[in-house]
Amino acid sequence: MIDAQTQLYGVIGNPVRHSLSPIIHNGAFRRMGLNAVYLAFEVKDLKEAINGIRGLGIRGVSVTLPFKNQIIPFLDEVEAVAKKIKAVNTIVNVGGRLVGYNTDWCGALEALEEKIDLEGKRVVLLGAGGAARAVGFALKTRDCEIILSNRTMDRGAVLAKELMCIHQPISSIEGLKADVIINATSVGMHPYDEESPLPKKVLKKGMILMDIVYRPLQTKLLREAEAIGCLTINGLEMLSRQGAAQLEIWTGKRPEMAKIKEDLCQTLHRKEHRA
Ligand code: ATR
Repeated sequence: MIDAQTQLYGVIGNPVRHSLSPIIHNGAFRRMGLNAVYLAFEVKDLKEAINGIRGLGIRGVSVTLPFKNQIIPFLDEVEAVAKKIKAVNTIVNVGGRLVGYNTDWCGALEALEEKIDLEGKRVVLLGAGGAARAVGFALKTRDCEIILSNRTMDRGAVLAKELMCIHQPISSIEGLKADVIINATSVGMHPYDEESPLPKKVLKKGMILMDIVYRPLQTKLLREAEAIGCLTINGLEMLSRQGAAQLEIWTGKRPEMAKIKEDLCQTLHRKEHRA
């Protein structure tokens, strides 16, 4: 029951009304027996929002687009990995002191490592936005050989330099013997369900395909990969794990992963039926 002791958490972003984070966190809070609620805040003025977090004593905040990078100068402290990725997706309010973390990279790592030992693997990473940055830095921690490919070459080159990896256009990815391919672009996201970031012929049996897009759950890329016998990892895996890592930072306890995924699946299925 919500009462005077209830702790407030939330996500700040814009747009934010489509966010699945309230589903992840409210379900987990309930199961963990915590007197806490998690709301979505559509923020126009980031500075005002930060004042609000401090002023109202909001305990923990998720940060999403377009603020993951912009928020850094407003925080009192930012952990080293988040600084390197240049993105914060989690804030903890420690008595008015706001500390920033990044859990996207460990969410990606956990999702991948459930299926494959990443150490030294050759990975094609598609994209150069915030998500690709987090995944790229995660791969670096496992000494992967990364081949980055982004539609806009200049943007791709900047990230490739930071990751100390090569950058190639999609057209030259074909024929490459990769162990893993990761889509960290938004290509294939609803309502563009029939788009794929890669021509089918790039996919080879035995490869592992991970997509960060979670709506639809089975993107065209994953459907095509599955059809030729690739192992696939859908967008729910990274999403649920970055959320679980946030909960662990806020509460010190690891929530039940399977239940988080169940909640997300149910919500996404409902959305898909409505679409
Ligand atoms: P996020 O922070 O979620 O990664 P973003 O910074 O907007 O979001 O990045 C989106 C990524 O998807 C970028 O790599 C973008 O490529 P560009 O840098 O060329 O814009 C990629 N992307 C989006 N739409 C695309 C499309 N139709 N074809 C290829 N890449 C696309």
